[in-house]
Amino acid sequence: MNLRVIIIGSGGRLGAALAREWSGAGDSVIGFNHASLDIGNADAMRAALQPLEFDVLVNCAAQTNVDRCETYQEEAFLLNSTAVALLGEICEEKGARCVHISTDYVFDGEKRTPYTEDDVASPISVYGASKLSGEKELLKISNRHLVVRVAWVFGPDRPSFIDGILNRAVENEVLEAIGDKISVPTYTIEAARLLRPFLSEISEGGILHLANQGECTWQEYGQYAIDCAVAAGVQMKGRTVAPLKMADLKAFIAKRPVYTAVSSEKLARLGGVSPRPWREAVKDYVQTYWAPGR
Ligand SMILES: NC(=O)c1ccc[n+]([C@@H]2O[C@H](COP(=O)([O-])OP(=O)(O)OC[C@H]3O[C@@H](n4cnc5c(N)ncnc54)[C@H](OP(=O)(O)O)[C@@H]3O)[C@@H](O)[C@H]2O)c1
Repeated sequence: MNLRVIIIGSGGRLGAALAREWSGAGDSVIGFNHASLDIGNADAMRAALQPLEFDVLVNCAAQTNVDRCETYQEEAFLLNSTAVALLGEICEEKGARCVHISTDYVFDGEKRTPYTEDDVASPISVYGASKLSGEKELLKISNRHLVVRVAWVFGPDRPSFIDGILNRAVENEVLEAIGDKISVPTYTIEAARLLRPFLSEISEGGILHLANQGECTWQEYGQYAIDCAVAAGVQMKGRTVAPLKMADLKAFIAKRPVYTAVSSEKLARLGGVSPRPWREAVKDYVQTYWAPGR
């Protein structure tokens, strides 16, 4: 069944991928990027959304700058929580479902096995606290809405860590990345495919984790991406990523959780399809999007 979908944050890394993939598959998608809709402006949100008819609204917009959130707490809560509550209310009025993208940073990072939806969220940063508050605001309105927690998002629509380290490796021999912080990458193209059934056929609401399978440090993630680029025939000056300690990165303002890999078991159980291991997703991205033409 084709759906009428609104995507808020359609200019972002995840939002752009969802908009393209779903409209390519036949859904009628209307996207709002930051320039066309400021989620900090309640009147503008009502004016933009109330005239529209839609089945599902997916919110990918957020204040995602973890360090900025620490300094501008009010803005963080306005964009990551108050705005989400308003989107939920508008969806209720429209009889539409709201799917809100959240984060692995709602966890404190003390666990050493992948976090499930049943684990207690206890953020250690303002960003994490504001995102958790947005989750709660939405599910308070109705638990038929869906909170989707992703982690380390990468894809072709906006550069992320993986593009940064690959681009550096083309020009530089010396490469470093954090080796003592663990999570799991989420490939946007795959996220679009895996999430689509949860917009319609699977009506269960609540919290859902969505990431590729497994876990890694930034250093392992970067190293594997470079290995894939070398295997794809790209001339790379840097081939080895040395591990850095998170504690040595003095530029960080916010505290970061050490371990935030998330388990996608619930998604696989309900959706009947497991995400690929992160290495397969990274290899696919490097071969399909990053390496061609270099
Ligand atoms: N990136 C990650 O590794 C990661 C990890 C875990 C969870 N997440 C979550 O995944 C979701 C999507 O993030 P992403 O990776 O796609 O990051 P992104 O590219 O930064 O997307 C966020 C989007 O929100 C927009 N935005 C910011 N302030 C806005 C405002 N006031 N009004 C309207 N739009 C606004 C941004 O627009 P401009 O850039 O034009 O300002 C951007 O397009 C977010 O909810 C984030 O919390 C991301």
